[in-house]
Amino acid sequence: MTTMSQPTGIPARTRPRSLSGMQPTSDSLHIGNYLGALVNWVDLQESYDAFYFVADLHALTVPTDPEVLRRRTRVTAAQFIAGGVDPQRSAVFCQSHLPQHAELAWVMNCLTAFGEAGRMTQFKDKTAKGQQANVGLFTYPMLMAADILIYDADKVPVGEDQRQHLEITRDLAMRFNQRYGQTLVVPEPHILKETAKVMELTDPTSKMSGTNSPEAGLVLLSDDPKRIVKKIKSAVTDAEREIRYDPERKPGVANLLVMESALTGVPIPTLEAGYAGKGYGDLKSQVAEVTVAAVRPFQERMKELLDDPAELDRILASGAQRAGAVSAATMDRVKERIGLLRPA
Ligand code: TRP
Repeated sequence: MTTMSQPTGIPARTRPRSLSGMQPTSDSLHIGNYLGALVNWVDLQESYDAFYFVADLHALTVPTDPEVLRRRTRVTAAQFIAGGVDPQRSAVFCQSHLPQHAELAWVMNCLTAFGEAGRMTQFKDKTAKGQQANVGLFTYPMLMAADILIYDADKVPVGEDQRQHLEITRDLAMRFNQRYGQTLVVPEPHILKETAKVMELTDPTSKMSGTNSPEAGLVLLSDDPKRIVKKIKSAVTDAEREIRYDPERKPGVANLLVMESALTGVPIPTLEAGYAGKGYGDLKSQVAEVTVAAVRPFQERMKELLDDPAELDRILASGAQRAGAVSAATMDRVKERIGLLRPA
């Protein structure tokens, strides 16, 4: 949003800035993450100065093996790039490479009321499910606020599940500005329209989820073609024969049409017309075929990136350098405003 009033002292920018992050919590994204989130990140590069990072500090809120964390951090960054984020145009980096995230998070902690943090639904849901909570999990939203505010981000593309975190980020930015004078950009949430909301293959009434769905219900971007075909051919449909988009009564068939449409760009009604007189076997073969075709170049690029970790680390270093220029300037402004004495 270029039209929003810019706080004084914020460097002028030619393009508005978009920013988002993903936690390195799995060894592969699934097709739902790809169509629901990454595709939007890629599109935003056209008109925004984009910053995309691996939220490795957030991943520490759950105990993780150090080697697994390191591997997944590289894999997650590589997936951004293999999915179409262009590191020449957009800053691709690792959260922990910029110390200002944690530094500003402390300032955000000190602006947040205890009760306010306690009302965050993600924390409540996770602990209600029995997850062992550490203080990091409790203050997770304040680190996320820092991630966003440290880059003067205008637009933050996230899923619906992150809406409350965006709201507290805006509240904290406004609170800071009110208390200390205009300093931080208040970001606009960009809640991703679930036009391509992909459901589980084994239960098309549940959203495809890397943490909750059974393996057979997920198409992983790392799955080999045979596996993709097998999973899609075993997708749950219904006892009818007609191929039409009716998510209420025919969620399995609707999900396959959503996937095909999102992967090919062909509108659902056009697909439906093309399937007139055909059966579920035809639908599944075609969806499997377009999925394999979409995943193949992604996997080739992933392989190149992971085969050359030094090059990937260089990409992350150059992303961190670009990000660091912004985050250091913001942190200076913040320290000045809140009265932290500068070292001589
Ligand atoms: N909490 C986000 C998620 O789990 C990841 C994230 C961390 C993020 N920091 C962010 C997203 C800043 C957007 C902006 O999906």
